[in-house]
Amino acid sequence: KKNPVIFSGIQPTGVPHLGNYLGALREWVKLQDSAEEGTKLLFSIVDLHALTVPQDAKQLRTWRREAFATLLAVGLDPKRSTIFYQSSVPAHTELMWILSTVASMGYLSRMTQWKSKLQLPDDASLEDSEARAQLRLGLFSYPVLQAADILIHRATHVPVGEDQRQHLEFSRYTANSFNHLYGDIFPTPEALISPAKRVMSLKEPQNKMSKSHADPKSRILLTDSAAEIQKKVKVALTDSEPKISYDPTNRPGVSNLIEILSHFEGVTCQEIASEYETASLRSLKEHVGSRIADSLAGIRERYLGIMDDKSGYLDSVAREGGEAAQVSADLTMRKVKRAMGL
Ligand code: ADP
Ligand code: NA
Repeated sequence: KKNPVIFSGIQPTGVPHLGNYLGALREWVKLQDSAEEGTKLLFSIVDLHALTVPQDAKQLRTWRREAFATLLAVGLDPKRSTIFYQSSVPAHTELMWILSTVASMGYLSRMTQWKSKLQLPDDASLEDSEARAQLRLGLFSYPVLQAADILIHRATHVPVGEDQRQHLEFSRYTANSFNHLYGDIFPTPEALISPAKRVMSLKEPQNKMSKSHADPKSRILLTDSAAEIQKKVKVALTDSEPKISYDPTNRPGVSNLIEILSHFEGVTCQEIASEYETASLRSLKEHVGSRIADSLAGIRERYLGIMDDKSGYLDSVAREGGEAAQVSADLTMRKVKRAMGL
């Protein structure tokens, strides 16, 4: 039986929010802390993915560091997990080229991410003149780079949020296409979907919490102070029904708050709803706000400590992580090249 290899990544596009934490980062730490002997864990700041939309160099440099510091602050331990910047391991892009020789254009054109990034409808096609004018090759082929990120380490398990399921499916398909032509090189990676599938926006609770929403009050950042968290929860959009109940379809705002609480307290949404049934919305919000603030306090403190550190701690962890990831990637590249006659 092969040892499990766990890989996941996060884009450096600002300090991660509560959705990233519950949907991804907290799961990564749980996997790390419960991993059996022999499990390999790799977590990457996927900075090359950030380039699929225009970036300011100075801003990106800051965001990369912030994202790295966040991974350490949430509890990833460089002794147990390899933490690295994607761009420090050239084999990720080298394998991307190789995979692009087997990746299906038809499949890529049906995927939704390039459409949503260009604000085109989900049924937009490459034939649309709007799409042709705006679409860049990097944005279109982004899932191939993501497949390379996963396959270069021959990952067996990929913890991601529900929104990434489509991309993982593409990686599986691409791995199988490659294996079919060149032999059994890549394991077919499995998604590990977090129980916190979709944390919703505090301002538009029908949409997921995301860093791309204009209103900063729509999301809680892992670096928000207790007071900022309380304030954002207090002004979260809910409804004016008299009692508290859990009903995601008809009452998305209050149900999202209940769900967030349930992820922190480990009790079901129904239990929370019946406990708070006759309570005021205000007291539910206060409880949710302080629960989030208490749970994130240690992360925030560690984050500020790491960002303040002048001894070069973050850079040395990043260097060592990059070296370890390079070793893991080179092993796969050798197999790939041998199989292809290179
Ligand atoms: P964003 O969607 O804000 O741009 P990323 O694409 O960098 O964030 O996602 C990083 C990880 O966080 C992914 O595994 C993604 O599935 C997860 N994630 C992002 N937003 C949410 C959310 N609102 N609820 C749950 N998980 C989320
Ligand atoms: Na996402």
